[in-house]
Amino acid sequence: MTRNLTPSQSIFGDVHLGYVVIETQRFADWRRFGRDAVGLQVDETLSDTMRFRLDDHGCRFLLQRGPAEDVTALGWELDDHDVFDAVAARITAHGVALTEGGAEDAVLRGVERLARFPGPNGLMQEIYTRPHVSHTAPVLLAKEGFVTGESGLGHVAIVSKHPHQMHGYYRTVFDARLSDYIDETISGLKFKIRFLRVNERHHSVAIASVNRLPIKPIRTRIQHVNIQVTALDDMVAAYQRMAENGFGVALSIGQHTNDKELSFYAVTPSGFEWEVGWNPIVIDDEDAWEPTTHQGISIWGHTAHGQTICDKLAQFKIGAQSLVQREDTIPALSEGIPDY
Ligand SMILES: [Fe+2]
Repeated sequence: MTRNLTPSQSIFGDVHLGYVVIETQRFADWRRFGRDAVGLQVDETLSDTMRFRLDDHGCRFLLQRGPAEDVTALGWELDDHDVFDAVAARITAHGVALTEGGAEDAVLRGVERLARFPGPNGLMQEIYTRPHVSHTAPVLLAKEGFVTGESGLGHVAIVSKHPHQMHGYYRTVFDARLSDYIDETISGLKFKIRFLRVNERHHSVAIASVNRLPIKPIRTRIQHVNIQVTALDDMVAAYQRMAENGFGVALSIGQHTNDKELSFYAVTPSGFEWEVGWNPIVIDDEDAWEPTTHQGISIWGHTAHGQTICDKLAQFKIGAQSLVQREDTIPALSEGIPDY
């Protein structure tokens, strides 16, 4: 069925976070982190890359060798060629260059059709349609598997000096909607976090910013990535495996105020965090949903672990340096939203 979408027609609900691209030199640590601690299937059949599977998609995390120790790109699954064409038309209509992905890149990501364009905060945005699905079930330590489908892979959280512009970017490109805000104080800094959804998942992108201050107290392009297990037991087992395998836990098990997800946060070999969550609410009645502001990220738990005074000082040093560092905003696609 062809829908002949115009560039201005909403594609909300037709967009799903599909994969995450990570650049790292620490393949051995990532193999242990992904396979032995989180419990994913590792695929190392292609040279110089490592891929993690967690469902029938061939690639949910693509690790490539390089010095960044960071997430470098987000892959967004679009439901069909019409949606793909509509997004592509939007990007070019705003004067931003869209590059078709080559055959080799599409194979690495396990997708049929691929294109990329620049995103804020140095995060390349990739769109694809028609993922190659595998008919063999992934081999996972998480016995009940992961929740993906309509909700997509999970979510990412980004710290930004330009939250209004970043919010505007995801609204312009994917018709992202505001789910809610959280106000929180972390390490003495007052943060405002915006939660954006592009489908039934409460949020696919969270944008954290220090209130009215142009500082970004972290090194990496994303603060954390989140995946969702089907069963509570699998979340608790992953939490135990982190310690058994010597990986640090940044926040212990707790429950979020806004989407009610139970989760914990581990520290990846590249330094950003990885949240394993269970049972977040799904927004299945768009008409009834009203954005609100929650106080604090957690109802209970999520206790900070192991942060030393040196870690705190390093964070403030990065924050101070960020005052003078430029953060890309892609102005042509980022009409800001003056929401507070
Ligand atoms: Fe999260």
